[in-house]
Formats: sequence, structure tokens, C-alpha cells
Amino acid sequence: MANRIFSLLLLLCAGNLIAQNTSVTNIEPRVEALLAKMTVEEKIGQLTQMPGDISTGTDVAKDDLLNQIRTGKLGSILSHTNFQNKITMQRVATKETRLGIPLVFGFDVIHGYKTIFPIPLAQAATWEPDLVERIERIAAEEASADGQNWTFSPMVDISRDPRWGRNMEGSGEDPYLGSLIGVARVRGFQGNDLAANNTVAACAKHYAGYGFVEAGREYNTVDMSEQRLRELILPPFEAVAKAGSATFMNAFNTLNGTPASMNKHLVTDILRGEWTWKGLVVSDWNSFGEVIVHGAAADEEDASAKCLGAGSDMDMAGGTFQKGMKKALDNGKVTQAQLDEAVRRVLRFKFMLGLFDDPFRYLDPKRREATLFKEEYRKTAREAAAKSMVLLKNDGGLLPLNPAGPFKKIAIIGPLVDSRTYKDYMSFWTLGLGTPYYDSTKVITPAMALKPALEALGFQVTVAGVNLTAASDEAAFKDAIQASKDADLIIACVGERGLDCGESRSVSDINLPRGQERLLKIATLNGNRPTVMVLFNSRPLTFQWANENIESILVAWQPGFETGNALTDILTGKVNPGGKLPVTFPYSLGQVPIYYNALNTGRPQEKQGQMWTSGYLDGPATPAYPFGFGLSYTTFAYEAPKVNKTKIKSGETLEVSVTVTNTGKIAGSETVQCYIRDLVADISRPLKELKGFEKITLAPGEKRTVKFKITENDLAYWNTEAKRKADPGKFKVFTGGNSRDVQEVEFSLEK
Ligand code: GLC
Repeated sequence: MANRIFSLLLLLCAGNLIAQNTSVTNIEPRVEALLAKMTVEEKIGQLTQMPGDISTGTDVAKDDLLNQIRTGKLGSILSHTNFQNKITMQRVATKETRLGIPLVFGFDVIHGYKTIFPIPLAQAATWEPDLVERIERIAAEEASADGQNWTFSPMVDISRDPRWGRNMEGSGEDPYLGSLIGVARVRGFQGNDLAANNTVAACAKHYAGYGFVEAGREYNTVDMSEQRLRELILPPFEAVAKAGSATFMNAFNTLNGTPASMNKHLVTDILRGEWTWKGLVVSDWNSFGEVIVHGAAADEEDASAKCLGAGSDMDMAGGTFQKGMKKALDNGKVTQAQLDEAVRRVLRFKFMLGLFDDPFRYLDPKRREATLFKEEYRKTAREAAAKSMVLLKNDGGLLPLNPAGPFKKIAIIGPLVDSRTYKDYMSFWTLGLGTPYYDSTKVITPAMALKPALEALGFQVTVAGVNLTAASDEAAFKDAIQASKDADLIIACVGERGLDCGESRSVSDINLPRGQERLLKIATLNGNRPTVMVLFNSRPLTFQWANENIESILVAWQPGFETGNALTDILTGKVNPGGKLPVTFPYSLGQVPIYYNALNTGRPQEKQGQMWTSGYLDGPATPAYPFGFGLSYTTFAYEAPKVNKTKIKSGETLEVSVTVTNTGKIAGSETVQCYIRDLVADISRPLKELKGFEKITLAPGEKRTVKFKITENDLAYWNTEAKRKADPGKFKVFTGGNSRDVQEVEFSLEK
């Protein structure tokens, strides 16, 4: 953890090093010289981005793109897959306009571009920021080779509500893990030179608070205290800003009444003021126009003035600036200086990308041909998918499947055994495959890999899909039930479809969808058949019956192209599962929001049913599976943590050490976690806060002592005087393999 903190601190004190990180020189004078030549219309054009051949939002009126480019009405295109078109558009922009300003192409590269990796939430479950960086490096290679200059990623929204469909795009409920993963994504995308033809600019989104939409309902209202905003929501944004993310994206939602796109507190006071971040802020899809719908602006003129005035720069997809900015300027609602400052940021961004020096740098057909879908990329996809899978249960050691064991006949059943449905095992955010170019043969399904692999081990294998659109359960489950009757072990592949995940996919029920729990009951003969449930999910789901009746449960998330191979690696034991949950799995939806870093309340409940305490009459107040949880095929024993001193003064560092032993028979990876608790502060502080983790691999019988460094900064919080400060007093440090099963030791901070 120490080196991780150190590299994060390096980035923090680098002061946007990566933001200026480009091999292009002499940018500022060139920006000024160009700006001086531009008309107001050309300036407004540079602040306008329009969608290409894929719409990723509400349909907005989009005029003939080439004509808009030719007449200087836009400076950027998003979501355009057709490579040849991009060459044409760039030629028109640079050869057929008055000033020849190149276009910048933006795209949602969310979990791979052509080669598809596990969803971001699954990647977080690896607790390996270095692996995440490698994934984004590959994504940047492919996207930049296909003419994209800019990805709308990393999404660093913290969320505690599994009803919200976009959990899949983030890194879960914890700001510390979310910050490290977000920084890894920025480094993977941007590399060491934004102008290199194999890097893309990053975009931190959605700024801010989007993950806290009320009731988990998409695009809904967000209202929270400044304390929660500062402690939970902003840290990952600050971390990626300091790490040099070249751009930020406004969120759709209001934050405490003010739409994020026109929220001066967020964009000017904090992002550009406190954090001294100098990059470009792009709206979300028509979010500038939507401030009118929010009722916070009268019309496009008012919306333009308020969004630009808040410090936001580029108008994605809505054409609000095209319609209202000139009037806002003429009527004195915005100044020429404000307009110029936004245009500077766009021009600077394009210079940093090298687009002025060579507008076709990212549009090289030969490089495209040589780069897309490289076989070696799939190896990383397979590694990431296997490492992301989280073993929740394994009663009786049913896994790994052992040919010398008692089970010979295996039935692989369920709607997701061998799906060819568009986006299954992936998500909506695989747009780089393009709708006309989507090639479903690239996805290795569970059946494609598992059946031959298990047969090669000597098992008899039957595969029986389930057609969930059939007229009745019986009709849908018939084959699966028959296959199960003849088998002595069942692998049930259930969960969500690819298009159940992502934007505009909130749900009001997080039980296993489409009656799949009924299938499990029937197919497992009501739990009388040894069963492995493989869950394909984009968010925490609830599955109480399965929890009580199924021996082994594996969270596979949406694993991407290498789904079947990674699942086979795990189920056969080629890879020992080491994933840990980056989100709490509730026992029931009624508990939501439920999360590990909660406050104690004045009446904490020790035992379910205890009256006059913080609990429920009709169920537990504890989750099904806590944050940080994940089993292995081996076992690990933790000794109590030790501290090198029981008191630290300001400026001193506490060293925490914990010895972990692999007490099982096979090698395995374990993410050792370190949490703190501030026992007494000016305000109530969380029961636990993640402050460090280290993933180690131990051979059978091997033991290792892991060390964590805790500084005063780790103990600080946003206090009642609106400052980050640590209070003197008693703290606890906890170490363990998840946020629940921990051991503790006390220490004090003296000031
Ligand atoms: C969408 C999403 C945003 C995405 C953008 C462009 O509505 O909210 O995350 O980057 O539009 O597709």
C-alpha cells in the first residue's frame, strides 16, 4: 500500500503534470494567435460537439454533419465508428474551412474498444489498479488506431444503490479504491504523451454526484450535504484531476438544486479553483439544454449563459450553444472574455493531442489494420475476467470441479449458458464494436469453453439453455430440468442480460431477474442436486433462496469476450478465485442503501430483532455479503495487527503490520485490507474507512507480513469548519480479508 499511496501522492503533487503532458511545444502563443483570428460564430462552433453514426442518448436534431463542419458550426464529433467517414470529416475541417481547425473525435471507451474486457465494476473486483491500467492501455491502442482521440472515461461516480443501472461503469462504493482505479485508468489512457498516436485523452465523469440519484432512479434528483460530497463523492474526482485527466464531464443531475452543468460551486469554486485544474469541461449528452427542462434556465440563451458562466466549456449533442450563445453575448449575459476562455481550452486540448501538427495522426489505415482485435489483447481480457470473479460460497468444496471426485455427470443450464444475444456477457457500453460491425462470434460463451474442457477432464457434460421468452416456465425450463435430472452436479448460468446494464437501465427490483430463481428451484430439485450458480451481473443482486440452498455461488459480473475461458479457468481450478466485492451485496432491496463505511448511529444493533436499536422488524440489518468479501479455494489465517507505536504526533507515520498465512493446500491470492475508525471527532465518523490494501499470493503454508503506513492525512476528514483536518484522539486500525471479518488495534493521534 505504501508504494501505491506514494505513487498517488506523486500524482497529487504533480499538479496536473499529465494534463500538460504532451510532446507538443509552444502551445499558448499558437492558441492566442488562432483565437485572435476567430469570429464569434467560429468560436461557438469550437464549443459544439455533435453525435456521429451512433446515438448514445435522446435523439437530438442533427443536421448534415459535413455541412456543419464545412461552415464551422462544430469542432468535435462523438460516437462515430465509421473510420473512412472520420478521414473525410477531418479533411473537410482542415481543408475546406476558413481556419482549418481540426476536429477532435470523442467516444465512450468504457471496458475496451474492439476487444471487450470485464465491465469496470468487475475490474475493480480484482483490486489490481496495475491490471486496470494495462486494460486501458490496450483500449487506448485500439481506440486511437480507429481514429478516436478522447474517451469519455473514467467514470468515477461512487454509488450505494444497486437499482441504478450505471454501477457497472464505476468502481463501487468506496472513494479510496475508486480513486486508485480512476487514476490507473487515466494513466492507461493518456500514457506519457497525449500527442502520441496510441494514447487518448481521458474524461472524468459524471461531475458530480450522479451515483446518488434518489431511489436509484436514472437521471433523478441528487441532494446531499457538503460533508458527504467532500468525503465520498469528490475524492476520486480530485485524484484524477491531480493525475492529469485532460477533461471532465458534467453530470445530468441537479446537485442540491443546481444542475451540475451550471453549478459554479462544482466547476469553478472546486474544480478550477481549489484544485487548480486547467482542462476542458464537456457537457453530458444535451445536459446544457436540459437545464431548461430542470427549470433552472428560461431558454437556450439563458442556458448558454449559465453553463458557460459556471465554467463548463463544450456542448455535447444538444446544440444549445449554437442556438443561444450569440444572443447571450449580444445581450451581455456572457462576456467575450468568458467565451474566449472556453475556446482557449478547446484549442489547447487539440494542440495537446497533436491534432494541429498532424490532423491525420490517428487516422492511419495501416495502423488500424495492424492494431484492432490483436490476439494478445484477449490474453489480458481472460486474465482480467478470471481475476474479477468473486467466490461467495463454496460449501463442501464443490469447486474446483474435480474429475476424481464423486460427480461425473454435469448439466450446464440456464439462459446464459450459450447466449448469442447482442451484448450478453458485456454491456451497452461496447459501442466500439459498432452496430453494423458487431460480430457476436468474438464472445466465448460458457458452453463453448466449459463443455470441451470438462469432457477432456473425463466428465459427461450436457448443455441445456433456457428460453426465457417461452410461453410458460415449464416450456422455458423443460430442457434444463431434463438435463438436471440426469446429472449429479449442475452449473447454472443465470443473471442479467448485457442490455440490462448501463445508462437508462435502473431497476426497481434487484432479485435474480426473469424468474431465474424459480428455474434454480425446479432444476436443482429444490436444492437436492449439488449446484454451482454462476451469476452474470452488472450490479449487486439479491438471491435469498439461492443463498440458503445452493452450495457454490460465483459472481462472474459481465466478463466480456473471454467469458467462457475465464469461467473455465476458475471452475476447473486453473485459476484460484481471488476477487473481492467492491460493493456491498444487500440481503434485500429494503436495506438499500447499505454500505460498509456507515456511521454507528446512537443505537447500533448487535443482534437481529433487538428492540430499540437500528434494525428491522422483518429481516436483518446486515448485508448478504459485505464490501471487500471474496473466498478462495484455499484459506488464509490472519494474526492480530501490530502497530509500531501507540501514539503518533503530527507529521509522524504509523506502521501497521499484519501476518497472513495460507493455511490451505493450494496457492492463492488474498487482498489484505486495512481500515481505520476515528473513535471521537467533531462529528460522527464511519465505523470503517478503507485506507490501504495489498494483494498477495501465498503458496500453501507460506506466511507473509504485510505493512501499511497511516499518516495524519489518512485520518483527516471534512469537518464543520469546511476544512480537511484530523482531530487528536483515539483511532482503531482494522485488518482482514474483508470489511467485516477483521481484527483491530488502537492508537492515538496527538497534536
Ligand atoms: C451518455 C452518458 C455519458 C456518455 C455520453 C456520450 O448519455 O451519460 O456517460 O459519455 O452520453 O455517449
